[in-house]
Amino acid sequence: MFRNMNKNILLLLLCACGLLSLSILAGAAVGYGAGNGKIFDITHKITSELPIFNSKNGLGHFIRLVSSIKNGSLANESEFKLGTHTGTHVDAPGHFFQKYYEEGFDVTTLSLQTLNGPALVVDVPRNQNITAEVMKSLNIPRGVHRVLFRTLNTDRRLMHKTKFASDFTGFKKEGAQWLVDNTDIKLVGLDYLSVAAYVDAAPTHLIFLRSREIVLVEGLTLMESRQGSMVHCLPLRMVDADGCPARCILIA
Ligand SMILES: *[C@@H]1O[C@H](CO)[C@@H](O)[C@H](O)[C@H]1NC(C)=O
Ligand SMILES: *[C@@H]1O[C@H](CO)[C@@H](O)[C@H](O)[C@H]1NC(C)=O
Ligand SMILES: *[C@@H]1O[C@H](CO)[C@@H](O)[C@H](O)[C@H]1NC(C)=O
Repeated sequence: MFRNMNKNILLLLLCACGLLSLSILAGAAVGYGAGNGKIFDITHKITSELPIFNSKNGLGHFIRLVSSIKNGSLANESEFKLGTHTGTHVDAPGHFFQKYYEEGFDVTTLSLQTLNGPALVVDVPRNQNITAEVMKSLNIPRGVHRVLFRTLNTDRRLMHKTKFASDFTGFKKEGAQWLVDNTDIKLVGLDYLSVAAYVDAAPTHLIFLRSREIVLVEGLTLMESRQGSMVHCLPLRMVDADGCPARCILIA
């Protein structure tokens, strides 16, 4: 193949290769650059089997073709219908506060700064919900703004079971209050459909969302993400939405 190639093109190619390897070396030197960090996808696939809060039957059919090549259309095109709290998703302040809903605190008002940046993945004790004592025992230092809590929910593979499990692990209201009072955490991520334990659903959400500074990310998959230092979470910029599915990744 090289035999037929014009000498100038070959030279250009060699230069390009040289530049490329130089930039890869430079990237490695600063531990940053062209795809160095391993990316963990911490977003669940949206499938009809996904569990839905308080439902036995899960998500079910949610997408359908409205025009298709098979039927003579130029292209395939589908429509989907999803609850705003489907799968891996964020909560807006308007989710639990009527006042905030009326004032327009929807998902478009959530801070991208909070949704993206250095994060800790923290394992919580498997034998209880997240109480004030549990939060205290985790010793999360001041200055940590984003924490993804991995719980028994991950071990139980709850997000992979269609039937909703109300006995999932989540924050008890005193645990949420302890976090608000004693840490700098502004992004709270958890591995089931709600950050709040079932029995404290309303009070825990109210405590977290009251200041409008804390962003809740629910339904994460944290199975493989043992390490990870940067989280990126991007919900759709959907006006009036009290929640929204988001694509979340963790970069090691
Ligand atoms: C394609 O055509 C068939 C037969 O008319 C109809 O039943 C089906 O719903 C159509 N599907 C789409 C995606 O248009
Ligand atoms: C397009 O739609 C047809 C059904 O009309 C389906 O069989 C096919 O897989 C679709 N193609 C793509 C690329 O989605
Ligand atoms: C957490 O709380 C739920 C009720 O919201 C309860 O069913 C469950 O057993 C608790 N989990 C643990 C590990 O104690």
